[in-house]
Amino acid sequence: MKKLLFWLFFILLVVAAFIYGNMPKIAPYYKQLTKPRVGLNLDLQPKEQKEAHFVGSGKCKECHKEHYHDWKASMHSKMIQVIAKDPKAVVADFSRLPEDADFTLKEAVYTIGGKFKQRYMIPATINGKSDFRLGNYQWNSQTKKWQHFKPYKYWYHDSYPHDNKQFPTSTTCDGCHFTGFMATGKRVEPAIACENCHGPGSKHAEDPNSPVFKASLVDPIRTNEVCFQCHMRNRDKRIETEHATAKELWMTATDYPKGYAPGKPLISYKLPAPFAPGKETKEFWANGAAKKNRTQGNEYIHDRMYQHGITCINCHDPHKLTNTAQKPQGNAACMKCHSFGSIIGPHQDTLEQHTHHKAGSKGSLCIECHMPKTGRHTGKSPLTVRSHRFSFTYPAQTKAYGMPPETNACFACHKDKTLDQLQDDLKKWGNLEWEKLESPHIR
Ligand code: HEC
Ligand code: HEC
Ligand code: HEC
Ligand code: HEC
Ligand code: HEC
Ligand code: HEC
Ligand code: HEC
Ligand code: HEC
Repeated sequence: MKKLLFWLFFILLVVAAFIYGNMPKIAPYYKQLTKPRVGLNLDLQPKEQKEAHFVGSGKCKECHKEHYHDWKASMHSKMIQVIAKDPKAVVADFSRLPEDADFTLKEAVYTIGGKFKQRYMIPATINGKSDFRLGNYQWNSQTKKWQHFKPYKYWYHDSYPHDNKQFPTSTTCDGCHFTGFMATGKRVEPAIACENCHGPGSKHAEDPNSPVFKASLVDPIRTNEVCFQCHMRNRDKRIETEHATAKELWMTATDYPKGYAPGKPLISYKLPAPFAPGKETKEFWANGAAKKNRTQGNEYIHDRMYQHGITCINCHDPHKLTNTAQKPQGNAACMKCHSFGSIIGPHQDTLEQHTHHKAGSKGSLCIECHMPKTGRHTGKSPLTVRSHRFSFTYPAQTKAYGMPPETNACFACHKDKTLDQLQDDLKKWGNLEWEKLESPHIR
């Protein structure tokens, strides 16, 4: 009897191990992907947090050293830097600053960014209030050149005077670059810190049992909102709620979801930059891929991964910010969920069968085909911004949408061929769906 039980148990164990070993890699995400959706309009900020105020990352550091350390080493902590405190934050060559520049290094208080481009904040009184303005030149870190900067050239060009000295950063930039400014209008801390994603933390810091918002606890569609508040281009919400025109928003047009704090329903504060499939705009190509930076959210909401509950933080550690363009994790970043012949694809049995390139070839890197470079950081920057619209864009689609050929993944590496020839290659491989064989299914 004992022996029989032992063998029964042994067989069960083998079967369990076999099932476990053959589970699709996506299985551990089952709980996340099946979480009930609560609706975009529901306020998820913990009640206790509503009374709290912003305290700054120094306070959080006292108890969360590891998270603080990871965040401090990331680009989020370096977005705004105080020049007086750290002169090395300036990456530009000020000895080459053009003569008609309307600012000097001495006048500049903060640097903005630096990885792709750097801009400078200069104290100014605008509209009778003490504010900041932006220099009329920006440093392009990619081309190592100064170039003109006209911040009023965006959707709000009718809302502000066409003069950098009269153009305030408070309504047009600071909500996304300082901590606390979006929610309270106060620059609690320069750069993007803990409370931009976790909400005000004074009550939690006093009593750790008092909750702060943690995005991963809510439904996955809502999880993304902590990133969407900044990584998604928008319009002033009043254009929708009050039918205001840019002119009517004179000196007040706001380019971030003012009043939003993590957990609150972002939809009540944000009007995303408009896009309709098939129609090219200043910000998007006709297939929905971005022409500019900070459009990750606008693109990602078109993707099936988004719709089925995959979130920004499934691919990016929210504190370290890996994966980034500087530290690509290669195919491992995708293969932690995907596997060949699995339910979510790729639906071929090997890498080479899926990509039709040698396994070690650049042409076998997932992001090269599924995240082609479609955007630029400035009009004069190289094409480096990778699309977060992961579904593959065929050469025939690139052509039919009227997109420049270099935004097509295949063409980016095969500039000696035409889009038509590349489409034919795919046809020969048999890698086309019915609808994409002749007509590139658009509009
Ligand atoms: C006095 C120490 C202390 C301070 C200061 C502190 N925390 Fe915490 N925090 C804790 C402890 C302890 C926990 C674990 C509590 C628990 O598991 O319920 C925690 C948990 C958290 C969590 C996870 C919450 C969850 O629901 O899983 C987050 C996020 C967090 N803290 C963020 C912050 C932020 C942001 C700050 C700064 C505004 C901060 N903490 C300041 C002690 C502190
Ligand atoms: C860019 C947004 C962002 C910033 C900035 C940020 N966090 Fe988080 N943090 C998150 C998200 C999202 C999660 C949930 C991650 C998860 O569950 O995988 C999280 C989780 C946590 C947790 C809980 C960890 C756990 O295992 O449950 C703590 C504690 C925490 N953060 C503290 C901090 C502190 C302290 C800072 C500042 C030094 C900070 N965070 C900055 C987005 C952010
Ligand atoms: C308050 C605004 C804000 C929020 C919230 C925010 N970001 Fe960012 N993020 C930025 C800015 C600004 C930069 C550019 C930083 C720089 O260049 O110094 C950036 C940069 C990044 C980068 C590139 C880092 C690098 O090394 O190049 C990644 C990845 C990223 N964010 C992911 C996220 C994710 C994921 C979330 C949500 C969990 C998030 N961000 C939330 C504003 C924000
Ligand atoms: C809605 C939020 C938002 C607003 C408003 C905003 N930014 Fe940003 N900005 C971001 C995010 C997010 C990034 C990083 C992600 C990316 O570049 O794709 C970024 C990147 C940048 C960078 C490049 C950083 C680097 O390291 O190269 C600069 C410079 C910059 N912003 C300046 C500005 C200025 C100046 C304004 C105002 C005229 C402004 N931004 C308004 C969210 C915003
Ligand atoms: C399926 C995985 C995946 C998802 C989901 C995803 N990203 Fe990314 N993201 C990547 C990869 C991979 C890269 C780096 C590409 C490279 O190495 O060039 C990247 C790059 C970035 C960058 C850096 C861009 C640059 O030019 O340096 C930012 C910012 C970013 N992602 C933000 C986001 C935000 C915000 C979301 C949610 C809306 C998001 N990502 C969702 C995989 C993902
Ligand atoms: C040489 C270009 C190329 C590379 C590299 C590539 N793919 Fe694809 N992928 C495609 C094409 C073409 C399709 C078919 C798209 C369609 O039917 O619309 C596709 C489709 C998919 C699909 C949809 C399901 C399916 O099987 O049709 C998934 C998932 C996918 N790829 C994941 C990946 C992953 C993960 C990697 C990296 C291991 C990768 N791809 C590398 C070209 C590529
Ligand atoms: C956290 C898990 C996860 C990661 C990481 C992940 N995926 Fe996915 N992906 C999914 C799921 C789940 C689906 C299925 C969605 C569906 O079929 O509706 C999917 C579907 C896709 C599709 C087909 C649907 C579409 O919208 O085009 C492509 C292409 C794809 N993934 C590419 C990638 C690439 C490239 C990476 C790496 C940069 C990646 N995925 C990383 C979970 C993931
Ligand atoms: C990141 C670069 C890259 C991308 C993206 C890429 N390829 Fe390639 N391709 C290569 C390289 C390198 C080779 C040569 C060796 C190899 O990998 O097989 C190659 C070889 C080929 C070949 C065989 C030799 C030739 O030139 O006739 C064809 C056909 C081809 N690619 C078509 C495509 C198509 C179609 C796409 C889009 C689905 C594509 N490639 C995407 C880099 C790329």
